Amino acid sequence: MGHRMFEYNADVTNMIFDYCRERLSLDPVPLDYGSLTPEPLASLDGLICPEGHAPDEILSFFKQNLAPAVISIDAPTFLAFIPNAPTKNSLLFDMVVACSGLNGTSWLEAAGVVVAENQALEYLAGLAGMPPSAGGAFVSGGSMGNLSGLTVGRDLGRRRRPEIAAHQLRYAISADAHSSVGKALHVLGMETLVVEADDHRFTLEGLLGALAADEHPESVIGVVATAGTTNAGIVDDLEGLGAYAREHELWFHVDGAYGGAALFSPTHRHLFSGLRHADSFVVDPHKWLFAPLDCAALLYREPHVARKFLAQQAGYLDILHADKDEDYEWNPSDFAIHLSRRARGLPFWYSLVTNGTTAYETAVQAAIDLARASAALIDELEHVELVRESSLSVVLFRRPGWSEEDYVAWSHRLLREQIAFVTPTKWEGETIARFAFLHPDTDLDLVARVLETMR
Ligand SMILES: Cc1ncc(COP(=O)(O)O)c(C=O)c1O
Repeated sequence: MGHRMFEYNADVTNMIFDYCRERLSLDPVPLDYGSLTPEPLASLDGLICPEGHAPDEILSFFKQNLAPAVISIDAPTFLAFIPNAPTKNSLLFDMVVACSGLNGTSWLEAAGVVVAENQALEYLAGLAGMPPSAGGAFVSGGSMGNLSGLTVGRDLGRRRRPEIAAHQLRYAISADAHSSVGKALHVLGMETLVVEADDHRFTLEGLLGALAADEHPESVIGVVATAGTTNAGIVDDLEGLGAYAREHELWFHVDGAYGGAALFSPTHRHLFSGLRHADSFVVDPHKWLFAPLDCAALLYREPHVARKFLAQQAGYLDILHADKDEDYEWNPSDFAIHLSRRARGLPFWYSLVTNGTTAYETAVQAAIDLARASAALIDELEHVELVRESSLSVVLFRRPGWSEEDYVAWSHRLLREQIAFVTPTKWEGETIARFAFLHPDTDLDLVARVLETMR
């Protein structure tokens, strides 16, 4: 007889599957409350105890007390930060990954996972115009993708510029780069050359001006561009920056964690042509490619370079690198700052393969079109005004006369009344309102309703 914890229990299984079925069938998904729940959060005291509790009791506790205290990031009414709208097939396949305990660490252990994940990565690399040799791994998020890609660029920079002290090596970045880039450079102990952006867009002209004015331009070993800034959806001058970086042997890292998904947009994919120069590129399927958290695609132009710097070495791991055909024997663990990993790319792969790429194009385009329509609506209304034209799926606007406190109170009211989750942001020092669209079921009626609440 096996251990009780590992025995299959049909009742518990049915109960959990029923709950999952119920959650999957909700249409629309309720927004729920996060920390603004009408009831105070229930106490969890005593739940961890020697004998354990009945699974049905704890599932009910979760349903009643914990689930409502989480804002549904997959609700079409979640318009804050960057939402996440997993397709049904991606959620279902995440259950397959979970119930199979699917490991995605190495070729030896998980070749079946690796070939499928690599098919999805290859498709993304192809859209980005990267060479057929490009490859990488799915990591936990854009933050880990940025840290890993920038580590490889830093280590290559050290090799290329041995005459410069390691702590003096710098990346050129713009002030609009995501906070995770700043955090990664902090971890790496690197300084930055912060380039003045042209209306928040990092351009080649800006880079050249900053290098010309700098005392030590030779210490810049790489350029970090953003393909879709988080705050405003702006795509940097990838073509200009990328071509310059390639020509001057600078590592070109492109953070497309949010906006890279617009490679699927028939109207906007041309903005990304410069991605073909990228040495490392991050795009998060858990943002705008409709996969569940947590899943970011990290791609390298020359994966063998990344492997050289990032693969973990240990006696007990030597067997993972026993096959000398490195392009065939592909260990996802070799391409980022991680080792063990769940097969987090498979829900995305399953969704892409089953829904087809046309469905992805339509869904990505829907958010861009809604952003444009919302901007036009804001233009028509007299009590709100656009701060700038919409970019990708982000709209920045203001309610003239409102203070930061007004925006925060309004955001909380919308959530308490379960209308939508919209949060303010800062733009050039001013607190304003921001929509980030992503779910293809979000519509202009909701936008109009939210705007009415600002009168
Ligand atoms: C441009 C950009 N880069 C990086 C990140 C960080 O990604 P993650 O939250 O997956 O770590 C974000 C998150 O919104 C982002 O928008």
